[in-house]
Parts: sequence; structure tokens; C-alpha cells
Amino acid sequence: MKTIIEPFRIKSVEPIRVTTKEERAKCIREAGYNLFNLHSDDVMIDLLTDSGTSAMSAGQWSGIMQGDESYAGSPSYYRFERAVKDLMPFEHVIPTHQGRAAEKILFTVAANKGATIPSNTHFDTTRANVEMSGAEAIDLVIAEGKDPADEYPFKGNMDLEALERLLSDAHDRIPLVMLTITNNTGGGQPVSMENMRGVREVCSRYKVPLFYDACRFAENAYLIKTREPGYADVSVPDIVREMFSYADGMTMSAKKDAFVNIGGWLALNNGDWADQARNILILTEGFPTYGGLAGRDLEAIAIGLQEIVAEDYLRYRMASMQYLGNALTRIGVPIVKPVGGHAVYIDARTLLPHIPPLAYPGQALAVALYVEGGIRACEIGTVMFGMQPDGSEQAAPLDLVRLAIPRRVYTQSHVDYVIECIENLYTCKNQLPGYRIEWQPRFLRHFTARFLQLA
Ligand code: F0G
Repeated sequence: MKTIIEPFRIKSVEPIRVTTKEERAKCIREAGYNLFNLHSDDVMIDLLTDSGTSAMSAGQWSGIMQGDESYAGSPSYYRFERAVKDLMPFEHVIPTHQGRAAEKILFTVAANKGATIPSNTHFDTTRANVEMSGAEAIDLVIAEGKDPADEYPFKGNMDLEALERLLSDAHDRIPLVMLTITNNTGGGQPVSMENMRGVREVCSRYKVPLFYDACRFAENAYLIKTREPGYADVSVPDIVREMFSYADGMTMSAKKDAFVNIGGWLALNNGDWADQARNILILTEGFPTYGGLAGRDLEAIAIGLQEIVAEDYLRYRMASMQYLGNALTRIGVPIVKPVGGHAVYIDARTLLPHIPPLAYPGQALAVALYVEGGIRACEIGTVMFGMQPDGSEQAAPLDLVRLAIPRRVYTQSHVDYVIECIENLYTCKNQLPGYRIEWQPRFLRHFTARFLQLA
């Protein structure tokens, strides 16, 4: 069969409020042309993020009723721990309320001023938490990973030579190496098993532990299955187990590949670090058997972890991503290739050459998409990364718009609607206006800045 259906039926629905173009033009003007300022009930298709936006299954909702809310030693914790260890056999599993809380604890324990933490590409919260500890965060993704048009299948890979050079010069000030799977900032691109093995080998030689930022581990595993020779006949859970056999620990945002709306964890083998992490956890999150979550959240994660490695689900997930990417390519819209695991990224700078980077082509496209169809996407470009530490402004390396697809939420007709809206915009792309910033805060300006449309 050519048609890959959504491998689920819908039991409970949320209405979408259908709005007119005029209403949306007014909403976005009042929001200072910043999509983060919109009320989400004024959005029809919300592709701002795939994080915490999944639809839970009937199994997860019924698991929630099993949640045991004991302060200490809850059976829900032990079910959660078993589910994590079934796929990621680390000795210590420490729940947190989301991914960045696990990062904060890890880098408080492991990093300090003068240290360097390399990654393929740090996600922005990871980078910020590394820098909060006083350490330096550096990105060592392969060259192909920086070229949106390059079709290399594993553009999330770490540059092993660069890692080797760094470790041979400075391994005594590198407390750990991170690997982000999939590489969100680089376009949701996967890391190959061969590269994970290679990173492990370099780390072992210099006795530096390797940690995964593993939010989208199941999507990465399925892309290994379908793109890397030798894995077509290996089950996804076994691919996941092999991936994690090369790591010494992980941070996780369960809001992605565990199908829940909140949650995360830190897992590791180093008992000394784990003791210190639990101490911080008690100060900042909660007792080690709930760590900032309710027992019911732990139940939902345990069940979500079993559901996410189902191949029917992952086949559909990747097919729907591909479907959107192929349609945009057919229209002529430049996207980051190949399509990654959780989102399609439009290359707005190439699409809108009449808007210079400092007039924010990504913002221009994201606003136009909202007005055209009530679709909310996220600028990942000069608005997000252009502000320099000294307050000046510089073009980001790329101006992208991310269409992140929430898990199990939208159907193919929703995606067809998105494609049609983008096709409409494509025909009038030369008329889209740029923007300038009217007001901005000192840090993380993309969340709250207000814009004015250029004439
Ligand atoms: N690491 C990666 C690769 C992420 O994509 C995220 C979150 C985090 C860590 C932090 O996890 O949100 O649970 O604290 N990414 C979201 C996004 C916000 O939209 O890509 P968190």
C-alpha cells in the first residue's frame, strides 16, 4: 500500500476554532507580530513545537489512574524506572520535571569555570545550562550538517577529527562529551550508529564520559533502521539499546519521545555524580522517587516509552514528515534536507531573497503563514540568534522556519491544509514585508520582542 494511515483512531477530540484572515491579521498585529504572544485558541494548526504537545493514548490515560502519589517509594517510580532501564540500561535514573532541569543538575555536578563541553550541536537550554556553570559550550557537528541543501543521511554526526583534536589538547578540562539525538538545532538530523560508536571510542581513549541529550531517541533509532546499512532487520528497541550501550548517561525531555505533556530525567552510571545529583534534586525538584513530577506523570512516561518504539507508529511518523517535505519541495520551497525526525525546516532566507537577514525573513514567513492559514510555526534564525553579547546585532548562519509536528495530534488533511497555505504564499512571496524590532529584552528576545512591519 502506498497510503500510510495514522495507526490510531480518535476517541477524544479538541475543537479547532476556525478564524478568518481579517481576525488573524488583527490578532498578530496586537501580538506585536510575535507568534509567542498569540493566544493559542487563535491558532488553527499549532506547529510551534513538538514538545509537550503530544496526544496521550487511552493506555496512558488509564495508567494515570494507577498513579501512586506517595511522597517516597511510590510504585509509579519503580514502573517508570523499569521502563527507562528496559531501553537505556543506566544504573541511576533520576526523574525531573523536564529536560532542562536534568541539564541544570548534570552541569551543576559535572561542569565548572574553565571546563569545556563539546556536543554535535547544543540545544539552546543545554548551552545556557553549560554556560551557567561557567563552562564553555562548543559545537562540533560535521560540515554537511551546516549546509541545508546537503542530502547526507546523518547530518547530526559529530566531527570525530575535531573531537579528537579537542580531547588530545584539553581532555583534562572536559568533564563530559554530549551528543544530541536527533540534532534539533541542526534541523532534527539523526546521528548514525557508526558515529556514536566512533564518539564512544574517542571518549574511551581519553577517559571522558559520553552523555546523550536523548529527547528524540526513538526517531533517531528509526532513521538508523531505514538509512544505515545493517539495521533494516534489527528491531527499534534493540537499536535503541545498542545506541545507549555506547553512553555513560543521558538527559531526557520526556515531552518529546515519551508522549507526555511534562517530564524528563537524568540517567547515569557514575554513582558519585548520581549522589550529588540527587542532593541537588531534593533541593530544587523533589524527592528522588518523584523529582518534580506526580506519580501519575511517571506512569504516563512508562507507558509512553513502550508506545514510542512501536514500528507502525515510527513508520507513520517519518512518512508524514516526508509527505510534508516532499510536497514543499514540489512547490519549489527550499527546505533543510533530508527531512529529519520531528519537523520540516523551511529555508526562509533562500525563499525570500528580497528580505535581508536583519529584516528577519524567517519572522516574515512565520507571520505570513499565520495570517494566511492560522498556522503557527517558529522562527529559528536571526531573531532567535542574532543578538550578540555586546548588544549589537548580526545575521544568524541561517534563517529557518520550523514546522514542528506534534505527535499523534494532526491528521493528513491538516497537513494538506498546511501545504495548501504555503503554496498560496509561494505565489505572492515577493510581496511579503520584512520587519524591524520595536522593543526587545536583553536575553532570549524571540520570546517577547515586539515587531513593526516594514513598508
Ligand atoms: N534538548 C533538546 C534537543 C530539545 O529540543 C529540548 C527542548 C531540550 C533539550 C529541553 O527540554 O523543554 O523539556 O526542558 N526543545 C523544545 C523545542 C523546547 O521546541 O524544540 P525541555
